[in-house]
Amino acid sequence: MKFHELQVQSITKLTKESVRIDFKVPEELKPEFKFKAGQYITIDMDGQRRDYSLCSSPLDDKWSVGIKSVKDGYVSKFLNSNLKEGDFLKVSTPKGKFGIKSEPDKKRTVLAFAAGSGITPVLSILRYTLQTEKEVLLNLFYCNRTPKETMFKDEIEQLKEQYPINFFPHWFFTRHKQENPLYEGRLNADKINRILNILVKINEIDEVLVCGPDGMIREITDEFIKAGLSENQVYFELFTPPAPSADAETAEQPETEVDVTVELDGDEYNFKWDGKKSLLDAALDEGIDAPYSCKGGICSSCMCRLEEGEVNLGENFVLTDQDIEEGIIVACCSRPKSDKIKINFDDI
Ligand code: FES
Repeated sequence: MKFHELQVQSITKLTKESVRIDFKVPEELKPEFKFKAGQYITIDMDGQRRDYSLCSSPLDDKWSVGIKSVKDGYVSKFLNSNLKEGDFLKVSTPKGKFGIKSEPDKKRTVLAFAAGSGITPVLSILRYTLQTEKEVLLNLFYCNRTPKETMFKDEIEQLKEQYPINFFPHWFFTRHKQENPLYEGRLNADKINRILNILVKINEIDEVLVCGPDGMIREITDEFIKAGLSENQVYFELFTPPAPSADAETAEQPETEVDVTVELDGDEYNFKWDGKKSLLDAALDEGIDAPYSCKGGICSSCMCRLEEGEVNLGENFVLTDQDIEEGIIVACCSRPKSDKIKINFDDI
């Protein structure tokens, strides 16, 4: 994870509480900033790091993020109220695993569910998929409080005009009367059942994308799996870390301090870890510039390879079974299990 100072090219007000920021990426940095639809960048302001999904398509030669101001949000408030065009921000190269495989030769039906600012990675995936797949059918189910508070409403309507036979946006509002009551209220299990009864049959669906708050993701994902989709047909991106799981913290730890070796950017560091903090925080306290962002097991920034020893791994939304088999861990969710541990951030 590498940070660069990027200049803000333009700022566009989307709603009263959100903006789109377009970055100017210099030619020489474009290879490093190449991204896949659904990935995100991290903005570092005074050591406070926040992840923002890119909402532009990788084919547009544009790097844009949509940022909603959140209550007491140090970074999001500043970006919404004080940032000016021409300013520079410390921005990481893109990363993240959310998204669907490109299938330009396939006729497929994809359903995307988003709430609020959860639309940002979904919008990038929609744009890219519409640009590259002639036979795709894309249904977007997008929930907001009111039309006025809906981020990217105009851009989504433009996409509908541009791709009328491939793209079908469905607007849901929680505080706005609709002609059809189906479109009133949050996206939840009941709505999924009604969508499956009225709009699309389960056996017609190839893939489902979900992005929004933890509760919504779990409810929608569970409902599609109950209805017959397999887990690898449903892709989701959490926008807020779930409540931390106590498992790893309360699991039995070695009685003595743990010898930790860290390999990062070709250098090797050693320190003693008492296990009271996560492996990531312990490394940061030692002045090691380990990559991180969410510190909650959702962003994958702190993924590393466990080359020696064992850790207790807490709940996270990043690692697949295959990752775990290959010895990949997320340092922010790791507590000690053995008295000697070696991790490598370079071999990922
Ligand atoms: S810092 Fe985000 S997963 Fe560890």
